[in-house]
Amino acid sequence: MVRKERKIKIRSTGIYLPEKVLTNADLEKMVETSDEWITTRTGIKERRIAAENEVTSDLGAAAAKMALERAGLKPEDIDLILVATNSPDTIFPSTACWVQKKLGTKEMPAFDLQAGCTGLLYGLIVSEGLILSGTCRRVLLIGVDILSKITNWEDRTTCVLFGDGAGAFILEESDDDSGLLSHFWGAEGSLGELLMLPGGGTLFPASEKTVKEKLHYIYMKGNEVFKHAVKRMGESALEALKRAGLEKSQVDYLIPHQANLRIIDATGERLELPKDKVVVNVNKYGNMSVATIPVALHELAEEGKLQKGQIIVMVAFGAGFTWASAVYRW
Ligand code: ACO
Repeated sequence: MVRKERKIKIRSTGIYLPEKVLTNADLEKMVETSDEWITTRTGIKERRIAAENEVTSDLGAAAAKMALERAGLKPEDIDLILVATNSPDTIFPSTACWVQKKLGTKEMPAFDLQAGCTGLLYGLIVSEGLILSGTCRRVLLIGVDILSKITNWEDRTTCVLFGDGAGAFILEESDDDSGLLSHFWGAEGSLGELLMLPGGGTLFPASEKTVKEKLHYIYMKGNEVFKHAVKRMGESALEALKRAGLEKSQVDYLIPHQANLRIIDATGERLELPKDKVVVNVNKYGNMSVATIPVALHELAEEGKLQKGQIIVMVAFGAGFTWASAVYRW
């Protein structure tokens, strides 16, 4: 795909972050770890944790309401709800359908998209196709995860990494120069076992044994994931830039998936960007999976840092393995 005349744009954004903050000091009391280890290996200082009675669709619906309000739209003004998540309320119905119920929309299509932490960018690319083909006029795209409910809180190699949150975009066709200029996406399913939630599906249906063996929690070979993430995120960002016909020097902001500060730094270096052009919030929120990019974009705009015409590169990597990048003109 090359730079195009017709584009989709992000009309508005919304986010929801649970109130409860879990700091590295709190984690020191739960598992054998230290603020020093977590900070130097990941850059994370604290993360948000959903309340016991909060489910994924609650976070998603709250972010969606903010995005709708900011666009001056009502739920009936959208015609598709697309939710990217790795931690659905239920295996079925989809979280998108639960969100629809909570928003009280008219009848419209609603479905989930599962692409690991890359889900939001996959959702953006799918939405572009649907909008530009005329299938949908306006898409509500939500990236949301409550990883705290699928994390083994006794496993220090994973529990220090994740946080909960949601971000939402209202997407529609652009009527000016702003919008999605290019994208690049891919997957390598042969490496799926390096990052997965094994239990509860048809591979290991829920049973006493799967619960005992803790198969309903995130399993990850961290250092392997790390290596692939660094390689794929750098390559993807460069490929999307090439497809947009832009140079590295034209990038105003890089918004990388926020899994680990070292991965973020490596991706920034690959694009030869100074630190102030690389957006970081992993310190405050940890890895919120699908929610990291929409929350980062929302906060960047909120802080008044985005000027019309600026070039933003978003790039993500996640379970699958999957990866994707998008070049966007604000
Ligand atoms: N506190 C203290 N020590 C720890 C902790 C902890 N929380 N976790 C692991 N260690 C120990 C290990 O046991 C190991 O000890 P050993 O040498 O005695 O065996 C040592 O620290 C080093 O462990 P490594 O796993 O080699 O550490 P590494 O430098 O690779 O850092 C980390 C681990 C932070 C998980 C890193 O590999 C990483 O960030 N990987 C990418 C993870 C990621 O991004 N996942 C998600 C991507 S997809 C998505 O977002 C869902």
